[in-house]
Amino acid sequence: MNAFNFQNKNLYAESVPVSDLMNLYGSPLYIYSKSQIEFNWKVFENSFGAHPHLICYAVKANSNLAVLNILANLGSGFDIVSLGELERVIASGGDPAKCVFSGVAKTENSIRKALEYGIYCFNVESEGELEQIESVASSLNVRASISIRVNPDVDAKTHPYISTGLTENKFGVSAEVALSMYKKASLSDYLDVCGLDYHIGSQITDQSPFIEALEKALDLIEELKSENIDLDHIDIGGGVGITYDQEKIISIEDYINRVISKVGSMKILAEPGRSIVGNAGIFVTKVEYLKQNDIKSFAIVDGAMNDLIRPALYSSYHEAVSIQEKSKGVTDSWDIVGPVCETSDFLAKDRELTLEKGDYIAILTAGAYGFVLSSNYNSRPRVPEVMVSEKSHSLVRKRETIESLFENETIFKDEVN
Ligand code: LLP
Repeated sequence: MNAFNFQNKNLYAESVPVSDLMNLYGSPLYIYSKSQIEFNWKVFENSFGAHPHLICYAVKANSNLAVLNILANLGSGFDIVSLGELERVIASGGDPAKCVFSGVAKTENSIRKALEYGIYCFNVESEGELEQIESVASSLNVRASISIRVNPDVDAKTHPYISTGLTENKFGVSAEVALSMYKKASLSDYLDVCGLDYHIGSQITDQSPFIEALEKALDLIEELKSENIDLDHIDIGGGVGITYDQEKIISIEDYINRVISKVGSMKILAEPGRSIVGNAGIFVTKVEYLKQNDIKSFAIVDGAMNDLIRPALYSSYHEAVSIQEKSKGVTDSWDIVGPVCETSDFLAKDRELTLEKGDYIAILTAGAYGFVLSSNYNSRPRVPEVMVSEKSHSLVRKRETIESLFENETIFKDEVN
């Protein structure tokens, strides 16, 4: 399915013309499709079928309460990496008992809160963290469920900034260290050993690194069995790539079937983020000026790298389309650039488009790692987010005001002078 489609030369979000949304909510704007989110989640759900499983949506990909609420209503679990994300899940109606807590630097306070909320388990990333969790659990006189994140030293063949499964990356521990951590944890009065997890990277478009990591994890699970340590689940992480440009992507159904066939009867957890929300969102921005010189043509828009940083940070490609197909305007190969004072402030480069001042350009596949990575750089208020479901739509985050940008700041009063 594709929730963003052209009908009579106009881009629609489900059954609503994007131009209507721009007139109503203003520019720039993030627009999400409820049906697309549901559809994408169900691809995972249906692929697991009757096999025991829990889909833990990676909240970091898009943490808007409306997005989380749609997934909570489907019965989804969540992969969180901070207390803030856990509180968002709960505020959106999600079940803390279906949350796994990932991340290399869980603070004592976040561990305590997570235990009080009764999360499903901690994905432990170091020996120090295991000790910290045990100590907090003992102070609360509860048992903490733990999974150990193994770093399988597998090359995910993706952008180096989003590759996480190599020994040189900060994530997880080696199989050897994991084994000693499992032995220690299994003797603790305050730790319940429940699983093993790994996550080798993001935007992965080839099945082989996933299967290589799975096989290494299963070898370790066998070794644990011989030590009388039995796990309840294996967590295969996220990382499934989506099509931004021409990428050929893996079949989720095929991938999950292969995982099931190798894992046997053990419960499987997955942590998809991008593949649930990526193609369920677009970022729309208005052309303020067109500027051409001898070698370059710039479409200067009101959206910028602070709103959508992926092109600047990872040289990511996002398709850019005019929301109304038209013949009026200047046809050229445009760099779509924003108002921020950095040369890296571009959303797309060399795109053949017919444009004039006031046109709206939709940057497609912006639902994952879009708004969540936005900032107030250059004192730009964060843009609003709108959810669409068939013909209905509503604001799910309002546009920030200029005043809110400095409401937490005060002028320094130098008492000495
Ligand atoms: N689980 C863990 C432990 C993770 O660190 C991540 C993503 C996921 C699951 C979800 O991965 P996904 O299914 O979304 O690939 N900002 C970058 C992506 C960073 C991914 C961080 N970790 C980007 O815009 O491409």
